[in-house]
Amino acid sequence: MNIQEELSSQDYRKIDRDHVWHPLFQHQNLEQVDLAIFEEAKGTTITDTDGRQYLDAYSGLWNVNVGYGREEIADAVYQQIRKLPYYPHSQINMPATLLAKQLADLLPGNLDHVYFSNSGSEANETAIKIARQYGRQMYPEQNRYKIISRYRGYHGFTYGSMSATGQSPRRTAFEPLVPGFKHVHPTCVDEIVRTIRWEGAETVIAIIAEPIIGGGGVIVPPDDYFSKLREICDQHNLLLIIDEVITGFGRTGTMFACEHWDIQPDIITLAKGLTSGYLPLSACVATTEVFNAFLGDPGDKQEFGQVCTYAGHPVTCAAGLANLKILTEERLWENATKVGTHLLERLKLLQDFPIVSEVRGKGLMIGVELINADKTNLDTMKTSTIVSQMKERGILIGKISHAADEPENIIFIAPPLILTLDEADQIVETLKDILTSIDC
Ligand SMILES: Cc1ncc(COP(=O)(O)O)c(C=O)c1O
Repeated sequence: MNIQEELSSQDYRKIDRDHVWHPLFQHQNLEQVDLAIFEEAKGTTITDTDGRQYLDAYSGLWNVNVGYGREEIADAVYQQIRKLPYYPHSQINMPATLLAKQLADLLPGNLDHVYFSNSGSEANETAIKIARQYGRQMYPEQNRYKIISRYRGYHGFTYGSMSATGQSPRRTAFEPLVPGFKHVHPTCVDEIVRTIRWEGAETVIAIIAEPIIGGGGVIVPPDDYFSKLREICDQHNLLLIIDEVITGFGRTGTMFACEHWDIQPDIITLAKGLTSGYLPLSACVATTEVFNAFLGDPGDKQEFGQVCTYAGHPVTCAAGLANLKILTEERLWENATKVGTHLLERLKLLQDFPIVSEVRGKGLMIGVELINADKTNLDTMKTSTIVSQMKERGILIGKISHAADEPENIIFIAPPLILTLDEADQIVETLKDILTSIDC
């Protein structure tokens, strides 16, 4: 049976309601909500089964960096599937080797050793485990296992990465979480110094941070934040883990957001833009110093003790290679700077509206924070209304969700890096119209 031809959109919705469990979704309301059924996409435009077209100003989930419909990626995947669809990474496969080399060449400093997995959560899980094993092997006389992370930061849904996450609504139902994670204020670097002192430096092994907090609200750090953080790490022999799952691969106007502040991580985690979402792939990349702590004789059990069936999958790595070729040949981080600066400047003019308290971001990663007349956070329902009115007018944007126990009042704009100036203007004009009519 050709399912697509025989079933209507309503049939799909019915089957979906009966059998699919969607993420972060209250299914009791699904009868009243017609989720879109997206069928195809090209460039920045995505089309549903009713033929409605939308400008995807959220890039799927901050990840379709090169835009939709890139034949080069589809061809690379097809050819690799035909040639070698799978073999575990206990041996070599050519796409994974070449992709690791390219990442090492693109990343700052000597971040030269790549451990592949499938999602941002797994990349962070890997980083956390590398840090803990590193702590045991480098400081056998000490008890270094604690990891400092930040409130509002997001690092993933698996137990370790969720424990690093500083968003209580995403954690509470699953507690108790993994012990040893300490959270600090998202932009106050001095609090990290205090936390290390109070915990005892010899019990801490790493700090994990997004260069710009993404899902927690597009929180850009003060300019000296990361240079101070690096100094703190050096002073106390801590590993600096930088989570570039959202910010990597051109999103903020440089290939990696580290470059804005000249951050030198000991470990960096990458996902989303690594394949622009065409296939699931992530990477945890460590410096030579970190990698060397895992060298030893075969009987020493110094090797990193983790295996993942799909790590370094040849097909996803072939997608990654084709994606990086597009990104680098088209120098898409430059378009993210050009169009992102224009978009940010135009959106900042909306700060004259009483409902807009702040517009912030870098490149094509932008957050717009909304308030009521009495300066309190705009109600979650009203923020959701703005997002759905944008959708009705043909533009998809995102919204903060489950990040803090307070009204959700930040909207996200993170389009594919191929966005044009005209499309940027279209986003601003539509948002402006909608904000003018919202009662706050
Ligand atoms: C900064 C950051 N780290 C990690 C993750 C987890 O990635 P994934 O959803 O691929 O597991 C996300 C997901 O949005 C993220 O934004």
